[in-house]
Amino acid sequence: MSERKLEGRVAIVTGAGGGLGAESARVLASHGAKIAIVDINGEAARKVAEEIDAAGGDALFVRTDISSEAEVKAMVEAVVARFGRVDVLHNNAAILSVEQRQRDRDVVNMDVDAWDLAMAVNLRGAMLCTKYAVREMLKNQKGSVIFATSGLGAQGDLSLSAYAASKAALMMLSKSVASQYGKQGIRSNALQIGLAPAENAHDSMPAPLLQILRDNHLTPELGTPRQIADVVAFLASDESSFVTGSTLVADGGFSSHTPSLVAMKALFAQTGAKSM
Ligand SMILES: NC(=O)c1ccc[n+]([C@@H]2O[C@H](COP(=O)([O-])OP(=O)(O)OC[C@H]3O[C@@H](n4cnc5c(N)ncnc54)[C@H](O)[C@@H]3O)[C@@H](O)[C@H]2O)c1
Repeated sequence: MSERKLEGRVAIVTGAGGGLGAESARVLASHGAKIAIVDINGEAARKVAEEIDAAGGDALFVRTDISSEAEVKAMVEAVVARFGRVDVLHNNAAILSVEQRQRDRDVVNMDVDAWDLAMAVNLRGAMLCTKYAVREMLKNQKGSVIFATSGLGAQGDLSLSAYAASKAALMMLSKSVASQYGKQGIRSNALQIGLAPAENAHDSMPAPLLQILRDNHLTPELGTPRQIADVVAFLASDESSFVTGSTLVADGGFSSHTPSLVAMKALFAQTGAKSM
């Protein structure tokens, strides 16, 4: 893998004030990209931009609520004013606060305001950023758009119904973008992300829950932000030049085994029968 595969490119990463977005921004910068750190939390965005600058990169932070069309338009204008172009858009931001998670429940108990907020940030926000970033990419007939999605956008679960529906919709939005601008050099892909918590987030999860999740991964361990960021860098770069309209899954095999696999393993262990 070439070390500086994004030299001279300009990348916008939304929700880059922390979590996976911040790690993706750091990794894209390490590959030579100039980075716009976009987040509703301006202070967090500023810190990440300063960190990238201190490491020898070139970062701009823009406090933006991506659910606002006026703010997104101004954000892309600020990026172009500073860096002159847009090559990569990573639609990473999502509303995932504790309060939102508590209100975004099963459908019968859904808080409709939480539903609307999930759609406004996760779905409309990504569409708005794509609308204005792709206009810039078209000027150079080249660009890569990435949509952060989730296994919850493809498989049913007990809660987070609005989040899940917004993520499923992003998989389709990505295909629309790929279909509409592919001949003009724009690629678009969804990245279906599995559980990739920061190291320090493991402690906040109950141990039995962590064990269930570990058992359901085909890899020895859960994912890390760096493992996701490396896939983002691949999708952003020319290494993926023939990949478009796809949903790439980075989830340690969580969504690719039979639903009975873990129970079968436990049964084999109990009875002493030989499994594969
Ligand atoms: N971490 C995981 O294990 C995991 C798993 C599956 C999918 N994902 C997806 O990856 C992405 C990042 O997840 P994360 O765990 O790093 O989340 P996070 O909550 O740590 O980060 C999300 C960021 O988005 C920002 N944000 C929220 N609302 C915004 C708005 N209106 N405008 C601009 N910024 C806004 C937040 O301030 C925050 O910095 C999300 O799209 C999420 O759905 C993450």
